[in-house]
Amino acid sequence: MSKNSINLDLVSDVKILSQKCSLIRKAEKSIAFVPTMGGLHKGHLSLIEKAQSLGDISVVSIFVNPMQFGPKEDFKIYPRQNKEDISMLDSRDVDILYVPEEDLIYPKNFQTNISVSQLENKLCGKFRPSHFQGVATIVAKLLIQIMPHYVVFGEKDYQQLAIIKQLVMDLNIPTNVIGCPTVREKDGLAMSSRNIFLNSKEREIAPNLFYQLQKVSNAVKNGENINIICEQSIEELQKIGFTSVDYIKVCDQRNLQELKHITSHARVFGAVRLNSTRLIDNLFI
Ligand code: PAJ
Repeated sequence: MSKNSINLDLVSDVKILSQKCSLIRKAEKSIAFVPTMGGLHKGHLSLIEKAQSLGDISVVSIFVNPMQFGPKEDFKIYPRQNKEDISMLDSRDVDILYVPEEDLIYPKNFQTNISVSQLENKLCGKFRPSHFQGVATIVAKLLIQIMPHYVVFGEKDYQQLAIIKQLVMDLNIPTNVIGCPTVREKDGLAMSSRNIFLNSKEREIAPNLFYQLQKVSNAVKNGENINIICEQSIEELQKIGFTSVDYIKVCDQRNLQELKHITSHARVFGAVRLNSTRLIDNLFI
């Protein structure tokens, strides 16, 4: 085999993918799946490593899902670097890469919309209407197409992880949803495909979201009032130079209900904007 050849099985047709997956299951091998939108970074790679440790066969998907972007959001400019992504996945010995065609995922007469009604309206749901319906719908489709034994998500998008757990439970989808810790840059900024949109000044400001979440977490642990601390943190983030703060909230991580007092399930969540780039992060308290 030549040095440049690719071992990764690249599939773009849903029927071929489903057939391959069904053969794998028939051979009594387990499948571990990592859905992504590409623009891969070390955060994604950590999920892939986890998937490889769980299943016999690893499947990764790359699909920039139009249904989860609002009309004014960054769908058009979302990083698309398939060549780099493919060679990264190939060098990590991923078995199957699924890069579906948009019109096979959403044919002309597509009508279905999955709503995880309570969880989708909390936190980011208030600022990105219908975003989580787009996420739940594409993830349900991918799970049905692949039928993996394991599906791996990052805690970086904690609300997404909670919604997928609920979806899988409600629809009796036979898979295990696995959450993985957030991978960070050296200065604490959570890795994200969107970080490449930050200019050097914004990049300097960005880690302050994480620092504020740490500050809130420590203050809450020390018994300070949750509401007051979150309000102070929002003010500080604005002073530091964030364009706006969507929210800083302490919630029960099981149902994302806001908490007034600390419990053993408390997690602090934050979403901020640096000009047109929206950043989110969260920390277990
Ligand atoms: P994407 O943003 O590409 O993220 C794919 C997966 O990588 C998600 O599970 C996300 O939580 C995880 N991830 C992102 N940054 C991470 C980090 N710094 N550390 C650990 N994990 C991280 O999330 C999506 O795509 C889409 O909504 C998708 C689920 C693919 C549906 O379209």
